[in-house]
Amino acid sequence: MKVLFICLGNICRSPTAEGVLRSIAAREAADLELEIDSAGTAGYHVGAAPDPRTSAAAARRGYDLSALRARVVEPEDFQRFDLILAMDEDNLRTLRRRAPATGRAHLQLYMEFAPELEVREVPDPYYGGPNGFEEVLDLVEHAARGLIRHLRQRSRAA
Ligand code: 4NP
Repeated sequence: MKVLFICLGNICRSPTAEGVLRSIAAREAADLELEIDSAGTAGYHVGAAPDPRTSAAAARRGYDLSALRARVVEPEDFQRFDLILAMDEDNLRTLRRRAPATGRAHLQLYMEFAPELEVREVPDPYYGGPNGFEEVLDLVEHAARGLIRHLRQRSRAA
């Protein structure tokens, strides 16, 4: 199963989602053999490491994002990935617009995997205060556990 996380710049939310799922899946769901990546819909930060505020907040919870570099989502991604998970409605709309007619990836909002939180979007922390980065971590940790639960149920049913 190949999972791609999408936000706007690929330096805050989607790299956090990638690092958190990588870490939780390695510990709790190695059997699912997830391939995990992230990308942005905008190219402002291509080639850049995650925002220092994002990396610092993640490191405080034990997630190492230092190897990640920003890239833009490409047409081939819609073939290569099974699941493309957007951080917010705006980016989901952009993805739906850009998806080639032949794309096989399923597109949806990541927070749909944490329905107990009743939150649809991971808010963009870029222009806000330090709490925003903690909130991103709280949300994507919940969604990661929900996604793993969902994929487990699916693999049992298959
Ligand atoms: P992200 O956050 O989409 O979570 O990576 C942002 C990063 C950069 C910008 C906006 C949001 N920017 O405008 O440069």
